[in-house]
Amino acid sequence: MPKRSLKTRILQLRVITCIFFILSIKAVLLFFANYGVYKYPHIPAEVLETQLYKQRSPKLVLHKSKPDCKYDEILGSTSSLLNWEVPRRFDDFSAQGLVNGSYAPEHCNALFSVAVVVAYRNRQSQLDIFLPYMHNFLRKQNIHYRIYVVEQQDEKIFNKGILYNVGAKTALGDQFPCLILHDVDLLPLDAANLYACAASPRHMSASIDKFRFVLPYDYLTGGVLALKAQQFVAVNGFSNRFEGWGGEDDDFSYRLAAHKLDVVRFPVAMSRYTMLEHPQERRNSARLQILRDSIRDGGARDGLSTLPPVHVRVATHRLFTLVGVRL
Ligand code: BGC
Ligand code: MN
Repeated sequence: MPKRSLKTRILQLRVITCIFFILSIKAVLLFFANYGVYKYPHIPAEVLETQLYKQRSPKLVLHKSKPDCKYDEILGSTSSLLNWEVPRRFDDFSAQGLVNGSYAPEHCNALFSVAVVVAYRNRQSQLDIFLPYMHNFLRKQNIHYRIYVVEQQDEKIFNKGILYNVGAKTALGDQFPCLILHDVDLLPLDAANLYACAASPRHMSASIDKFRFVLPYDYLTGGVLALKAQQFVAVNGFSNRFEGWGGEDDDFSYRLAAHKLDVVRFPVAMSRYTMLEHPQERRNSARLQILRDSIRDGGARDGLSTLPPVHVRVATHRLFTLVGVRL
């Protein structure tokens, strides 16, 4: 082996020191980028059930011979998955009881009707995990629910706010009293995380593995949010003006605050989620400016009431109702 000169060795040492230095800085930055609180304020577990919004869709067929469903066992469950235990394949998934992405328990009359609304585009591999996982999870909860996948079917920049507005309108048409706005890449880990609305809007995904299970900031409502359909309408839905990644959920938080709707959360042990891997979407660099402008009018001039004329096509599949949207 040729002998390395002293100069080469010093140079190599410098390069290694530099790489080490850069990596250390990156680690520190990453730590602070994910800064947040683990013990956020939440509704105490003992009074959770009294805070839930028990409301069924008038469309749910009730059976006089059957009792009302019970929820104390679900809310008291301590069964949880670790994030790496979440199945990534569902080869032998059974669609039993599912019609058009909807389900209602057979042995009892559900006390909750919930529309799970997913804003979606181009994440087929995540949808293939999301749908079977969620149906397996939700069918154990004694609730009446329906999953709406609201897909942007054009080449324009993704507009999550418009998709949520269209999805909410569709679910409202089906007379769902409670909406759960849901990212396609988030999967609940705790069986006790009952998919139901509370008296106040409820931020459900408070503890996500991607954020080291801490809440990044306390007005965050992105990820998974449950709110009464009438609250969604009261705040005029989402802004239609956020294009690309980010900001629309922060704007929605300000809308809720402007209407004096405090956001509540459940305890950490019931609010853990795992996020499916995906590359970071390109951030909308104008989002802070749009947010500043939008906060001023609190949703009064832009939202559900000013939804642009979009083409909507509803199609039903066994595991979901597809709401196709062209801007
Ligand atoms: C974005 C939000 C996003 C949050 C967490 C914020 O910077 O504006 O849209 O939900 O980060 O990722
Ligand atoms: Mn994500």
